[in-house]
Amino acid sequence: MIVSQHEHSQITWAQDYNSRVNPSLMTRLLHEAIPVLKWTDWHVKEVQEGSCTTVLPLNHATTNQHGTHQAALLSLSADYTGGLALATLLRGVPFAGVHPCNEDNSAALWLAAMDVRYKCPSTGHVTATCKISDETAEMVRQRYFSGKRVLVTLPVIFRSNNEVVAEAEMKYFAQPSIQLKPTREKPSINPLFKHKLKASARMIAGLRATADESFVRLDQAHEKHAAGPHGELLAKRLQSVLPHLQHTVAARTKHIDQTLTSIPGLRQVVLMGAGLDMRPFRLYESLGRPTFFEVDLPEMLEERTRVISQLTNRPVVQRRMVAADFKCDDLSKILLQHPDFDPRLPTAIIYEGCSMYFSKQENQEILTLLGQTLQNPESRIWSDMVTPDVVDGTTHVEEIAAFVDGMEQLGEKFIFGCNDPSSFMLECGFRKADVITVQDYLESRDPTYSAYRFVVAGK
Ligand SMILES: C[S@@+](CC[C@H](N)C(=O)[O-])C[C@H]1O[C@@H](n2cnc3c(N)ncnc32)[C@H](O)[C@@H]1O
Repeated sequence: MIVSQHEHSQITWAQDYNSRVNPSLMTRLLHEAIPVLKWTDWHVKEVQEGSCTTVLPLNHATTNQHGTHQAALLSLSADYTGGLALATLLRGVPFAGVHPCNEDNSAALWLAAMDVRYKCPSTGHVTATCKISDETAEMVRQRYFSGKRVLVTLPVIFRSNNEVVAEAEMKYFAQPSIQLKPTREKPSINPLFKHKLKASARMIAGLRATADESFVRLDQAHEKHAAGPHGELLAKRLQSVLPHLQHTVAARTKHIDQTLTSIPGLRQVVLMGAGLDMRPFRLYESLGRPTFFEVDLPEMLEERTRVISQLTNRPVVQRRMVAADFKCDDLSKILLQHPDFDPRLPTAIIYEGCSMYFSKQENQEILTLLGQTLQNPESRIWSDMVTPDVVDGTTHVEEIAAFVDGMEQLGEKFIFGCNDPSSFMLECGFRKADVITVQDYLESRDPTYSAYRFVVAGK
C-alpha cells in the first residue's frame, strides 16, 4: 500500500523527523547500508523539510596525494546529500535499501545522472548542502503521491573554509517501489525490479557456493558461477549478520536431496521459484533422469537462461522452464496443461526459500493448487517455513532479528511464519506431513536453528 497524500498530511514534520530522517538516524542507517560512508566518517549534520547538510571530513581516508578531497568522494557525498533532501519531502515514506521496509510501502530512489564542477581544492572539512525550492518540492510531492514517477534535478553546493569548492546537479528518480513490479497489464519490466529479483536468488547461490562440501554434495563451480560476485558479496554480508545462515542453506539443500532420493521411481521434479538452483545438473543422473520443471517469474527465468548458457561442463538434462506468477496464476492448471507434465507419475515439488515471502493466504492458495497436481501416492511436496516470531521480530535471538532486518532492507521482507507446519499442510489438502526443525536435523545444541523447519507432505 503506497502512503497516500492524506496519510502523508497526517504525519507531522516533527514526528517524521524523529522517526525517519533525523541526522543521527540517517547517519547510522547510511553507514550500515554504504560502508564507504562510515569509513570516511561522512555524516549528516542537519535535516529540514526540503534541505539537508552533510559533512565530508578531511582525513586520511578521504584525501588524495595532495591532502585534498578525492573528487569521487565529493560526488558520493552529493549523491546522499541530495537523496536525503529529496527523502525529506515524502513524509512517512521509508526508502528501500536504507529504512526497514517492504515493496508495498517504500519508495525506490535512484541517481540517474550527475554533473559536478570542481572549482578549487578543498583543504578543510567539506559541507554539502542541498536546498530544494518550494516549487520543486510541490511538484515532487504531487507526482509521487499521485503514483507517478518523479524525475528531478537538485543542486548541491560544497563549501570548505567558507569557500565554494564544488557545485553539483544531481538528477534523481523516485517512485513507489511497488510500481517497479511488472503486472499483467504492464509486463514491461523495470531494471530495478529485475535487479532485486536476481539479488536474492544470487545470494542463496552465493551461500551454497562456499558451503562445507563434507556436509553436503554441491557442484560449487556451478553455484559460484550462478552467484557471481554480486551473490558472493551479498552472501558474505548476510552471513556476517547471521553466522548460522550458510549452514541453514546447506541443511535445506541436503534435506531436499534426501527427500528426492527417498521417492521410489521419481520421474518429475518441480522446482517452484527455481531461481538459480543448479540442482538439475547436479542430481539428474543420480536421481534416475527425472524431468525437471523450473517454475519462476519470466524475468528470473531470463536470468536463469543466461547463467545456464554460460555453464561449462553442463550435463544434458531434461528441463522445462515454466513461467508463472505464484500470486495470480493458477499453478495447478499451468502444470496440468503442460504437455510434458503427468500428474500420475511419482513427482516431487520443491517450494524452497519461498514461503516466507508470501502471505498466509497466498501460501494456502499456492500449496493447495500444487497439491492438486500430485496424483501418485509416492509424490511429495517439500517446503521450508520459519516460526512466526522470526517474522514479527520477537525471537530473542539478536542475529535472527538483524538478518530479517537485512532482508527487509534488500526489499525481501519475511511476511509469513507458521507455528504448526503439519496442520498448515493438512489445511491445504495434504493427508500427511512430516516436520523437522533444522536444530534436530543437524543434531545441534544451538536453539537458533529451531526457528526454521522443513516439511515434507504427501496426498
Ligand atoms: C530466495 S529465491 C529462492 C530460489 C531457489 N528456490 C533457491 O533456493 O535457490 C526466491 C525465488 O522465488 C521467485 N519468486 C518471487 N516471487 C515470485 C512470484 N510471485 N512468482 C513466482 N516466483 C517468484 C524469485 O524469482 C526467486 O527465484
